[in-house]
Amino acid sequence: MARILTGIQSTGVPHLGNLLGALEPGVKLSEQKDNTAIFFIADLHSLTSLKEPQARIENIRSVAAAWLACGFDTHQGILFRQSDVPEVCELTWYLNCFAPFPMLANAHSFKDKSAKQGLSEVNAGLFTYPVLMAADILLYDTDIVPVGKDQIQHIEITRDIASSINHQHGEIFILPKAQVEEQVKVVPGIDGQKMSKSYGNTINVFEEEKKLKKSINRIITGSEPLEAPKNPDNCTVFQLYSLLADTSEINTLRNAYLEGNFGYGAAKQILFEKIMEKYEVPRQKYMTFMQNPESIETALRLGQDKARAYATSVLDRVREALGFGSII
Ligand code: TYM
Repeated sequence: MARILTGIQSTGVPHLGNLLGALEPGVKLSEQKDNTAIFFIADLHSLTSLKEPQARIENIRSVAAAWLACGFDTHQGILFRQSDVPEVCELTWYLNCFAPFPMLANAHSFKDKSAKQGLSEVNAGLFTYPVLMAADILLYDTDIVPVGKDQIQHIEITRDIASSINHQHGEIFILPKAQVEEQVKVVPGIDGQKMSKSYGNTINVFEEEKKLKKSINRIITGSEPLEAPKNPDNCTVFQLYSLLADTSEINTLRNAYLEGNFGYGAAKQILFEKIMEKYEVPRQKYMTFMQNPESIETALRLGQDKARAYATSVLDRVREALGFGSII
């Protein structure tokens, strides 16, 4: 029996990279009989960058709607909002006191932003971001964390902090493992770099059809003439298609590239149709959930109760091991 846990920040509508890198692999794992899946919306993490309350609320809705639209069964598993389990903040404090300063200073989430924006522009929340993430994971005795490649370092930090506490205070924590699907560890965005909200290069499959088509048409490609044979392996359109289509469809598109007389516009159309086909049902469900925020809130409340039951029992174990609580 394995506990599977993953989270998505409430910083926007989940994009294709979030879906392929974490959300869909998570839902697949949740369908295996022996697994317990614990998925959440990382709204506390979002505060490191997003300050507008209304935007956060809308994003929480939209991340929850995406989990639900992709088929997560909230009666079998647990879907909750991170801030609904305040125990995570207490655990973060304990973990903070065991997290070496240089390890956090080296975390890419902090290093990249502070290098780009300057130290005066980043906040302490961003610095301790990986510790809150470690608390998310350790609070539920998690075995497996399905994530994209960019989160591997955070899981390593989690393991380092947990091992250090286990070493000093006995076996309190389970050491989690990252599960990164080789094929989708870095989904490219429309400019060929890693797809990311902060790069403004995302494809949002839940978007209105016209806008979705427009973002696919903006994918940067080569500029060879129509007749010229083209190399599929360095084309973002082909790479994205390969993540969605089956082997024979991928081979058909590969051959069209190699033979020539096939333009990037046609390739984009094929990618667009594939996205519409694959996400037809999730798109409809997403819209229905977004129009019924009460149903989302009900699902989150159910998740909160279940998540807190797990969290309090682990936190009691930590408090006792560290000498907090009753003195008799
Ligand atoms: P976030 O919100 O940036 O991304 C959510 C998940 O999507 C994956 N991902 C990608 N995978 C492949 N290709 C991409 N282009 C791509 N972009 C994003 C991320 O790797 C991630 O798995 N810190 C986390 C949220 C978090 C969390 C946790 C995750 C908070 N606590 C505990 C797991 C366990 C984050 O910012 O993810």
